[in-house]
Amino acid sequence: MKKYSFLILFAAAFACKNKPSADAKVAAFAISEAAIGKVDTSTITEYTISNPSGMKVSILNYGGTVTKIITKDKAGNDGDVVLGFDSLAGNLQKGNPYFGVLVGRYANRIAKGKFTLDGKTYQLATNNGPNALHGGLKGYDKVVWTVEKLAGDSCLQLTYKSKDGEEGYPGNVVATVVYTLSSANELKIDYKATTDKATPVNLTNHCYFNLSAGADSTILNHELTLVADKYTPVDTTLIPTGKIEPVKGTPMDFTAPKLIGKDLASVAGGYDHNWVLNKTGKGLELAATLYHVASGRYMEVFTTEPGIQFYSGNFLDGTLTNTKGGKKYVQHAALCLETQHFPDSPNEPSFPSVILKSGETYTHTSVYKFSVK
Ligand code: BGC
Repeated sequence: MKKYSFLILFAAAFACKNKPSADAKVAAFAISEAAIGKVDTSTITEYTISNPSGMKVSILNYGGTVTKIITKDKAGNDGDVVLGFDSLAGNLQKGNPYFGVLVGRYANRIAKGKFTLDGKTYQLATNNGPNALHGGLKGYDKVVWTVEKLAGDSCLQLTYKSKDGEEGYPGNVVATVVYTLSSANELKIDYKATTDKATPVNLTNHCYFNLSAGADSTILNHELTLVADKYTPVDTTLIPTGKIEPVKGTPMDFTAPKLIGKDLASVAGGYDHNWVLNKTGKGLELAATLYHVASGRYMEVFTTEPGIQFYSGNFLDGTLTNTKGGKKYVQHAALCLETQHFPDSPNEPSFPSVILKSGETYTHTSVYKFSVK
């Protein structure tokens, strides 16, 4: 057994060129696919990548949605650690709160849906109170992406071409996202984008995690760490005030592992904020850890991005239909850890810039690594 784990470990960390193993006893990477319905004339396909240790990640060409992440608990039992639906009708329902999707062109909020770039003011749809949220009425989460299986059976490349003027944003943007499952149980997401006119770009993934895999109805008993000494406080519409404040001594302090339920009641509306990561450079660095003691499941999040939105599923209210196993997804049923640039950056010159110019390439890598302890 030891020998096989050793082999697996070196088989294909993060490569898209995993060679089939000569040893039949060592399972290989594989990608299976199943058509699950149609959106307009496009067939919607669910692709499932599996790795040699049995972890599985399923992804749709609709919205680039991660529909399932199957990982083992400490007893070796498989469980699905993300919320989702049992059919495409679930994904398509009005009010789907972005389960598992790719969010773009601009993840999170832009105040009043307005920004000025190169002397021109752009008005986006306001789809979240007075603000624009997650790319508009039909963001990258509600479009069909072109999918290509890359060599090695561990990577899927998704491409979406967003037109100049789409959802009010300037510039033709080509967004490419590569989902890779490694032999070390890492789901890596590589984002790239180019444009032919300056435009704000902020891409992320919106998985709702519950590491109990259905055993606990909420994440209040999950232990979270955020590698962030500071966060961006918000107004009542969840737009950052522009200040960057220390978390020390406040309910926002997750610098050491803390149960999510511990201080939640003292945060008006629950956690739905951007933390400023303690980055030391531009590379991939640890941003968060999440631990569910009973199952032993442990998740680490690494990112190249400067921020992370921790959203504690505050608006889930048990009303979604076509959920997996008919489950009621109640308030705090799951949480999102959205690696990102800070919300409303186009209107906040003191925040790191989100403006992508013609000739430049936007890049972002995030890794969700699963293990047990
Ligand atoms: C936002 C929440 C919002 C949710 C939508 C999160 O990224 O921060 O405020 O309700 O997405 O599902």
